[in-house]
Amino acid sequence: MSAPSRPTPAQTARLRTGGDHLRFANKLLQASDVAYGQGFLDEQEESLTLMGAATGLAWEKLPQCFERALKPAEKAKFLALLERRVFERIPTAYLVGEAWLGGLRFRVDERVIVPRSYFVELIPEAIPRWLPPIEQVKRVADVCTGSGCLAILLAKRFPQAKVDATDLSAPALEVAKLNVADHGEAKRIQLHETDTMTALLGGPKFDLILSNPPYEPEGIYRRLPAEFKKEPKNSLVSGKDGLDVIRKLLAQATELLQPHGVLVIEVGGLRDAMHQAWPKLPMLWLPTADGLDCVVLIQAADLRAALVKSPRAGRGR
Ligand SMILES: C[S@@+](CC[C@H](N)C(=O)[O-])C[C@H]1O[C@@H](n2cnc3c(N)ncnc32)[C@H](O)[C@@H]1O
Repeated sequence: MSAPSRPTPAQTARLRTGGDHLRFANKLLQASDVAYGQGFLDEQEESLTLMGAATGLAWEKLPQCFERALKPAEKAKFLALLERRVFERIPTAYLVGEAWLGGLRFRVDERVIVPRSYFVELIPEAIPRWLPPIEQVKRVADVCTGSGCLAILLAKRFPQAKVDATDLSAPALEVAKLNVADHGEAKRIQLHETDTMTALLGGPKFDLILSNPPYEPEGIYRRLPAEFKKEPKNSLVSGKDGLDVIRKLLAQATELLQPHGVLVIEVGGLRDAMHQAWPKLPMLWLPTADGLDCVVLIQAADLRAALVKSPRAGRGR
């Protein structure tokens, strides 16, 4: 599909109400190459989100503008955002500066990937089932934290835990710091600029290590739609086979997990590659609503038994 042509002034002059503008946006998005999946499911969610940014209306109040004429400034802002989405392929979350995950709002911009992890389904119930009672969980790590969204969801779910959140990217950690402060968790979440968990080696051990690392192989990245390439490349790609960060994480988690602890990693399409790389390591695949089941849970004892001879293997910079 090729990109549609830019709307002409004559076309946009005919649009009056919020509803007119939304129908126009939906058609333009449908006729374009835009790809979804960066926090939004389809063109309707994206156009409503842009309308919220243009009118200042919260999501639940958007129907208020469906039948009324948009003010000139609202119209201009909506059409400008829409054009950037369709013709520059900027993700909607970056255009509006926010994304929602697990009912929480997170600031986002080009420094971080748009939050959309499967962990939002698993942090409430599935993961705690593998741990001591909630109030006994004292130390949790979010490795590759990006915007800090998962560290914050973990802090909310495990109210007695101290959360260590790591990322290699200083710009990403600046965004995480803002989100941690927004959600009132600066006292419990500590951010570390480090490769995987290197800065935490030798320190206290964890009940839970969770990670949504970059996991796309280089070759897959090259074929991604344009809006995904607007996200930081090191949020998505991890070497030739996608396993570079995961290799390091498995080795470091061997040292850093409590004996009763668990490691959970979102691995995208790498399930077969994981079994091939670690054939003796027991892996449990946690079910997710779309059936892709691409989050693996590994117990500390299994990791130690199956994996690393040198507990310090994988130490990075
Ligand atoms: C897929 S994003 C996940 C962000 C966030 N946890 C989420 O779910 O939205 C991966 C993150 O890993 C970071 N990263 C890449 N390589 C890393 C490494 N070797 N050590 C630590 N973080 C790394 C990137 O900067 C990026 O923020």
